Amino acid sequence: MEVREIERPQVIEEGIITGRRALKAAPRIEGLPTGVEGLDGLFFTTEIIDNRVIKKPLGGIPCLSVLNITGSSDTGKTLLVEQFAIKQASLGRNVAFITVETPASFVSLSLNERARAMGLRFEDIEDNIILIDAASHGLLRENLPNLLATLAHVIRTYKTGITVIDSVTGLYEHREMLARTVVRQVYNFLKKWHQTALLVSQKRSGHEELTAEAAGGYAVGHIVDGTMVLAKELVMSQYSARLFGKPPGDIVRLFRIDGCRLCGHDTRTFFLEITDTGLLRIGPPLRTG
Ligand SMILES: Nc1ncnc2c1ncn2[C@@H]1O[C@H](COP(=O)(O)OP(=O)(O)O)[C@@H](O)[C@H]1O
Ligand SMILES: [Mg+2]
Repeated sequence: MEVREIERPQVIEEGIITGRRALKAAPRIEGLPTGVEGLDGLFFTTEIIDNRVIKKPLGGIPCLSVLNITGSSDTGKTLLVEQFAIKQASLGRNVAFITVETPASFVSLSLNERARAMGLRFEDIEDNIILIDAASHGLLRENLPNLLATLAHVIRTYKTGITVIDSVTGLYEHREMLARTVVRQVYNFLKKWHQTALLVSQKRSGHEELTAEAAGGYAVGHIVDGTMVLAKELVMSQYSARLFGKPPGDIVRLFRIDGCRLCGHDTRTFFLEITDTGLLRIGPPLRTG
């Protein structure tokens, strides 16, 4: 009878690094402006000067972070990532924009509109946004290795340091048991390629509005570096009318940063506004108590 050799455990030397060497290799945390009024000031780092903790605003989301933007439909997730892409492109950076639900030509119309609302000319920045159309191509949407190989090609060719995926939920639609594997692979890929990334993920209607949970369970929130939650609520009770200061029947939009591993952040819940020209803006904090 054949005896299978038991694999002997090995020491993986590459996996060992001293704190000193790890810190030397660590990036400096800077902020990347999002193009969303009121958002950039909500992330900060701290310094201790004369025994006092001083907060230093980052002025954007932390570079090299992979963040999850979650909310049910119509809460402004797409507006947020479009404004971010436009803002970064206007600063001269190249952005890879993977569209999974809306074909690229429609996304470009929307980006064009967003740029104009932000007082920019899309023609000046259109070459800085490289769309990957997984909405029109099943070979990208349904095949993660193809999608990541294509993204790697775009990152190499266009030297992009920023990736947007709208949405990762679309990559495991009807296959929610794969959510964890898909998001983990995407996350590891983005880290390896030194990307700052926003991943949109859809909430199911059964989920609590202001939690970080996305379709596919806790997969997304637990893997990524941080989450921003967008919510939309109908004012129905006297209680919420008082809480929000709005009459019953009104819609309120809310925003909250639900954790970020890379830096400090404001923990309050804010009103969220969408202007008449279709721009997302963080409003005042919700006053409780
Ligand atoms: N140009 C616009 N003008 C006014 N409101 C807009 C415009 N574009 C989008 N909106 C509003 O923003 C909401 C959120 O849009 P979107 O970002 O697409 O939501 P999500 O991606 O979360 O489903 C839409 O339901 C719509 O009411
Ligand atoms: Mg959307």
